[in-house]
Amino acid sequence: MKAIILDNPLIQHKLSIIRNKKTGTKEFREIIGEIATFLCYEAMSDAKLEEIEIETPMGKTKVKRLDENQYAFVPILRAGTGMLDGLLKAMPNAKIGHVGLYRDEETLKPVRYYYKMPKDIANREVIVLDPMLATGGSATDTITMLKEDGVKKIKFLCILAAPEGIRKLEEIHPDVKVYTASVDEKLNEIGYIVPGLGDAGDRIFGTK
Ligand code: PRP
Ligand code: URA
Repeated sequence: MKAIILDNPLIQHKLSIIRNKKTGTKEFREIIGEIATFLCYEAMSDAKLEEIEIETPMGKTKVKRLDENQYAFVPILRAGTGMLDGLLKAMPNAKIGHVGLYRDEETLKPVRYYYKMPKDIANREVIVLDPMLATGGSATDTITMLKEDGVKKIKFLCILAAPEGIRKLEEIHPDVKVYTASVDEKLNEIGYIVPGLGDAGDRIFGTK
């Protein structure tokens, strides 16, 4: 599997808290944001930097800087927005697009209800956000839409992934790197990740 798994002890510790069904909405949402920040740092480890000259209080020096304007974050509604603040902490100047999808509970196929991207999306590297990569339907459809809009470089960040979702992404979009805090055991018969953390959207927004 080509997924990049962040098995840092602190991240695994945070995961242990959000997997616990006793953890409440506030703490759950905060930790999703914290893990998202770490995923963002890892996803940016191959970023190209430009060299510029600045003046520190001690004198002139050359420093390396990232052009944040080359990036866009695309959360998949609704649960993906729970990761957005964490990414914006790391890269506050990235632009943001939104994709609205929900999984049909019978077919498990994603149904699109919203799509709005920055005008120059084709010229940006796009980081797609969704806490859960389950069957992989929502992620693959989102990436297909972005490619149809001309986007060339895409990364996918999630908190948990199922092996089935990773396989589907690899098969349909082998050029897209997946960053996750864990690849769990399997999907259950209704398409939920096991052991997982339940319904990410409901736990982030307190809707159940
Ligand atoms: C969840 C999750 C993903 C999708 C993953 O969203 O946030 O978007 O399911 O499943 P998949 O890999 O099988 O497509 P859901 O449809 O529950 O919508 P929500 O974010 O609005 O709760
Ligand atoms: N969506 C979720 O929120 N959780 C899962 O386990 C699978 C899909």
